[in-house]
Amino acid sequence: MTAEIIDGKAFSETVRGKVAEGVAALKETHGITPGLAVVLVGEDPASQVYVRNKGKQTVECGMQSFEHKLDAATSEVDLLALVEQLNADPAVHGILVQLPLPDHIDADKVINAIAPAKDVDGFHILNVGLLGTGQKSMVPCTPLGCLMMLRDHHGSLSGLNAVVVGRSNIVGKPMAQLLLGDSCTVTIAHSRTKDLAGVCRSADILVAAVGRPQMIPGDWVKPGATVIDVGINRIPAPEKGEGKTRLVGDVDFETAKETAGAITPVPGGVGPMTIACLLANTLTACCRANG
Ligand code: GUN
Repeated sequence: MTAEIIDGKAFSETVRGKVAEGVAALKETHGITPGLAVVLVGEDPASQVYVRNKGKQTVECGMQSFEHKLDAATSEVDLLALVEQLNADPAVHGILVQLPLPDHIDADKVINAIAPAKDVDGFHILNVGLLGTGQKSMVPCTPLGCLMMLRDHHGSLSGLNAVVVGRSNIVGKPMAQLLLGDSCTVTIAHSRTKDLAGVCRSADILVAAVGRPQMIPGDWVKPGATVIDVGINRIPAPEKGEGKTRLVGDVDFETAKETAGAITPVPGGVGPMTIACLLANTLTACCRANG
């Protein structure tokens, strides 16, 4: 059996189309244009690519994009001052500070300085608490994108066994909260989990978010399971020529697709959905700010 490939790129285009419609309607009825501010500190090449893509897609959706690129040596005080300025700016409805930040900056302090209503990443401690208690919050973009794909594929997730491999604040923990909210039986597994293979094999829904290239082989996947691969890892690809690289997920796609019922590819799965959800969150923040 070969798995159905869940096309995150196509799905994200649909989501972005709906966001663009919402933005146009808001302009028409209220004369308001949603605005997203993205702050990048330093010159991490992967972060630069993400920030560029975010800015481009923000504008394509009809929203305003404000990019703040700061030197790697920027002080924490100066970054906090910029966050305060963006908090107070009525044209900015969403604020995203790209992670990771340089070591001399306390990322938690910066994230918790963002006005919770503008925290389109959903990383502020207030939003984390709201999500954990099932209240209306800003939901982190990557897990939200995964949930949308799962709901689209399954309809109801109620009663399914979900295993999330990875316990990060950005993906693993909020993903588990969202799956619990949809009445899955949820296990969070990680590098210290005993019999990780066996735990993965119990999953009807397997979400891999560990950041280790191809660490989950096909024989860890229950036949017919739905596999969501959050990993985006660059590995050497000598077959493409000397010094070339390619992107792979945390799951070994070639073997997993023989066992899974459905699987997201890398690239073209979770990645495009993350940005689409960021845009959706920005529109949501703008609508809430304007009643
Ligand atoms: N770095 C990697 N993923 C993310 C994300 O979802 N949000 C932010 N702010 N930084 C990231």
